[in-house]
Order: sequence, then structure tokens, then C-alpha cells
Amino acid sequence: SRQWRGVIEEYRERLPVSATTPVVTLREGGTPLVPAQVLSERTGCEVHLKVEGANPTGSFKDRGMTMAISRAKEEGAQAVICASTGNTSASAAAYAVRGGMVCAVLVPTGKIALGKMGQALVHGARILEVDGNFDDCLDLARGLSEKYPVALVNSVNPARIEGQKTGAFEVVDMLGDAPDIHVLPVGNAGNITAYWRGYREYADTTSPLGAPATRTPRMWGFQASGAAPIVRGEPVRNPATLATAIRIGNPASWTQAEAARDESGGIIDEVTDREILSAYRLLAAQEGVFVEPASAASVAGLLKAAARGEVDPGQRIVCTVTGNGLKDPDWAVAGAPPPITVPVNADAAAERLGLA
Ligand code: F0G
Repeated sequence: SRQWRGVIEEYRERLPVSATTPVVTLREGGTPLVPAQVLSERTGCEVHLKVEGANPTGSFKDRGMTMAISRAKEEGAQAVICASTGNTSASAAAYAVRGGMVCAVLVPTGKIALGKMGQALVHGARILEVDGNFDDCLDLARGLSEKYPVALVNSVNPARIEGQKTGAFEVVDMLGDAPDIHVLPVGNAGNITAYWRGYREYADTTSPLGAPATRTPRMWGFQASGAAPIVRGEPVRNPATLATAIRIGNPASWTQAEAARDESGGIIDEVTDREILSAYRLLAAQEGVFVEPASAASVAGLLKAAARGEVDPGQRIVCTVTGNGLKDPDWAVAGAPPPITVPVNADAAAERLGLA
């Protein structure tokens, strides 16, 4: 047996790296594909969770960041910059440390989960809080990268999408073929773009590398109702959702997400914050998988479609759950019954536990 080497070494032949690219890695990827028993029962399907919270910084961003930072280092960059709703900044900060680079991040003031802010801080990123939303932060980061010697590592950087497509490769490698449906939360729309590219490449019979998959899945993406520009068909000026990771009103990969939907015969729909929280609690309490609220949008979408009778039974479905629940524990604590205090006394403890 050997240790998983990270997505660049595991999928080197399918990624834009050369023998001389300096590989900056925290051995990301190789994340669990967990059978979801309760979701399978509810939908009459075979549902799996791709648990991306198991990545080194706790989200799927690490797959793209190992590529973006490695390529930036290859090109001689000494500093990188990103706009973020939290996870990209956490990942960029960690990989910049590994690559010996300075990292600057632009985040919307007051709209970043505490755990993610803590990650950027502890990895030594230079953090600017912007009096605006994510879309404003991305405009600013793009402008800075055009004028100053700093590499942009948002998903508008093609290396990011290349790295993130490995999520689809892993699903096929684990299941033996593509699923019928792949479900994702959609924010800036980079990840649905990346998965679709990965599935297409793996099913491309003209590839000299071979085709591990015989088919591609339908891509299902879900936005939060208060931040659903693709569903509305126009940018949302003041996006609002408790799922701060996907609080985005004008996604950078908008057209690519629509292409993924249309080419795959899929959908992009919305879920309410209430549906997101309900899926968030179900995942934790019934599947044993603790994700952050934005991640639960995929599962919320699947449950919504199933309740409407739009999910034919017997299908194989993969939901990517994008980030670790520990990043944003406020929602785990809020609304839960508070712990009970007991003296150091077995009888009292047993009574409170309902054992006596
Ligand atoms: N889930 C989580 C946990 C995220 O952090 C993000 C995006 C998404 C889903 C949506 O993915 O943008 O590729 O459609 N977070 C970015 C960030 C915007 O800055 O961390 P997407």
C-alpha cells in the first residue's frame, strides 16, 4: 500500500503540467465516496456523497489550488491574490505557504464563516475586507492582477478548473463508470464546469489516454434562492443566503455552467435557505456527514426534485458535498437543544441520559 500522492501526481497525464512544473501539494483529493443510506431510501436510488470536506483545508478548492499555485510558481510568481466567500482564501493561503509565496485575499466584510477567516489568518494571508459582496471582490482582484505583479487564483484561472475536474475522475475510478446524475451546489459556477469537463474527458473515446467511462452523467446544479442568478436569468445585485459560500450574484463561469446543464441534459434550479438547513441537519443527524450549509444545497436539491417526483428510481446519483461542517459551526449550534449540566455523579448522569 502507498499514500495518496495528491491530484497532480495521481492524474498527471490528464493535467496541464510538465516534468519541470514544481508540484505544490498537500496531498489533496482521494476523498471518500460514502454510500448515503437514508438518501437512497428516500429517493429509491443509489446515492453517494463525495465528501470534499476531507481535503487538507476542508473543501474542494484544494484540487484546483494545487494546480493554480504550482503553475503560478512555475511562472515565477511571488504573490497570489483571490476574492473569496471563504474557502478559496483558506485554500490559497495554505498552498501559498507551501509554495513560498505571499497570499492576498479580498473578502466581503462580515460575510465569511469564522473558521475560514481563521484559516486565512493562521496561514499568514494578507486579508482585505471589502465593503461589498463577492462579485465586487472578484472585480477588484481581477483588476489588481492585471495591473500589478500578482497571480489571480480564482476559478477564472484555467488551472483551477483543470485541478477540480479530478473530482469527476475519482468518482468514475471508484464506481467503475459515471453515475446517472451528479449533483452540486453552484456559486461562482467553477466546480460544475470542472466536473463536467472531467466527465467528458473520461468518456472521450478519441483520447490517446483511453476512456475509463462509457458515458457522462446529467449535471444537476443548485443555487440558493436568494442568490440564484442563473435560475433567474440575470445577475442578482444583492445576493442573500445563510449559505455564505454561495452568496454570489454574478458567477464568473455562468456560460460554462449553462453549457454543462444543456450538454448533459441536466438542470440548474434553486433551493431555499430552509431547504438547505433541513438537508444540512439530515446529513449530520442521519448520514453522519457534517458539511457546511452551502454544501447541503446539492442534497437539498436532490430531495426537492425527489419530492416532486422528478427522480426516477433505480438511478445511481452522486452528490458532491463541498466543504467541512467545522468551518461554519454556528448553524450546528443554533437551534439545537443546549447540553445538560450534571454533577460528577453516575446516578444523576444516568438519570439525565434516560438510562436509569
Ligand atoms: N460549496 C462551497 C463550500 C464553496 O465554498 C463554494 C464556492 C461552492 C460550493 C460553489 O462552488 O463557486 O465553484 O460554484 N466558494 C468560493 C469561495 C466562491 O470563494 O470559496 P463554485
